Amino acid sequence: MRRIRLNLAPDLQVEFADRERALSRIKYWAEHGMGVVQVVYGPEGCGKTAWLLQAIELLRDYGFDVIYINPIERDFLAEVGIEDIRRRLIEILREVTGDAWARAAWAIIDLVKELIRAGRRRIAVLADDVFQAIGLDRAAIYIKGGLLGLIEYPPRDYDVVITVAATSEGVSLREIGRHRWADLLAMWNMSREGFRQLYEQIPGVKPNFDEVWRLTGGNPKLLGRLYEINWSVDDVINRLVRGKELISFIQSLNKDDRELLMKALEDPDALMSREGIPLMNKLVELNLVIDNIYPPRDETLWIDQPPPDKDLGLGIGKYVAWQSPLHRDAVKRTLGGSIE
Ligand SMILES: Nc1ncnc2c1ncn2[C@@H]1O[C@H](COP(=O)(O)OP(=O)(O)OP(=O)(O)O)[C@@H](O)[C@H]1O
Ligand SMILES: [Mg+2]
Repeated sequence: MRRIRLNLAPDLQVEFADRERALSRIKYWAEHGMGVVQVVYGPEGCGKTAWLLQAIELLRDYGFDVIYINPIERDFLAEVGIEDIRRRLIEILREVTGDAWARAAWAIIDLVKELIRAGRRRIAVLADDVFQAIGLDRAAIYIKGGLLGLIEYPPRDYDVVITVAATSEGVSLREIGRHRWADLLAMWNMSREGFRQLYEQIPGVKPNFDEVWRLTGGNPKLLGRLYEINWSVDDVINRLVRGKELISFIQSLNKDDRELLMKALEDPDALMSREGIPLMNKLVELNLVIDNIYPPRDETLWIDQPPPDKDLGLGIGKYVAWQSPLHRDAVKRTLGGSIE
């Protein structure tokens, strides 16, 4: 398998690093197929898209027709063995703008059915961050009526159909998790060793590895950001504060919630309590914490190496974790009033 190159920052290309286990999953599915849709969620910037893009290479080696869409990045790929269908897919995908992504996502389902009908036997649909585009409330319908339909009710026999949807939207998972249409798999930030491989590809003067690990917790997007803005931690935190509108969020909290949030900065499991759940839900919605990481860290529920059972230094509790230490720091600074 060729390792793809990725833009970690505007002027920095790196080679896809590590994620061996997550790639083995793809191999397993390529060989054995899947019974339900696989929905992969994880912190923003943990590497879901990179993994799916590398998976395209792998699936190509296995002789799959591959369709990949990412409405957020306005990116798509349609490599399918029937020219007419390939052309029609490209036409649809090239022309979509704004709201039309929802229609395109459904059109893909129809064209994949045509592919199966035409006798293609190995097909992969990789739907990256589609839930926002089709509406979080309709994500479950797309999973059940769209992607699962391809697996369960194909118009003709096939060998293997793979459907994977990736998301960092914690809220979209609630509805999906309740049903048996999909397996929810979590992806965490990179393992320390995997992250080191990425860190070592960064040229120039840089803070030492332990420092970067302590700040990012292995989140590759934050690594790229730090590099891009000359390792200015303050700038990364300020961007998080602005991007998530943390000042108004913190202002909206009552005294009890502020106290609880203060505790959650030390130990995010403080949110996993009767009085903590509403606040936790808000933090999930803002993509600041991930809540369903129940122990034990059952490896079958994780697409790659799970986070440690508990590492309060990195903001990881048993039940709830900050998406990265920098996400936590952004909240900490806003709460402490040091962000103007
Ligand atoms: N395994 C990896 N090897 C090299 N670079 C990586 C790897 N994983 C992620 N990156 C880089 O880190 C950055 C963030 O990764 P990516 O966009 O895949 O995250 P994501 O989980 O899809 O984020 P989002 O939640 O925003 O969609 C990108 O620049 C990507 O190229
Ligand atoms: Mg992504």
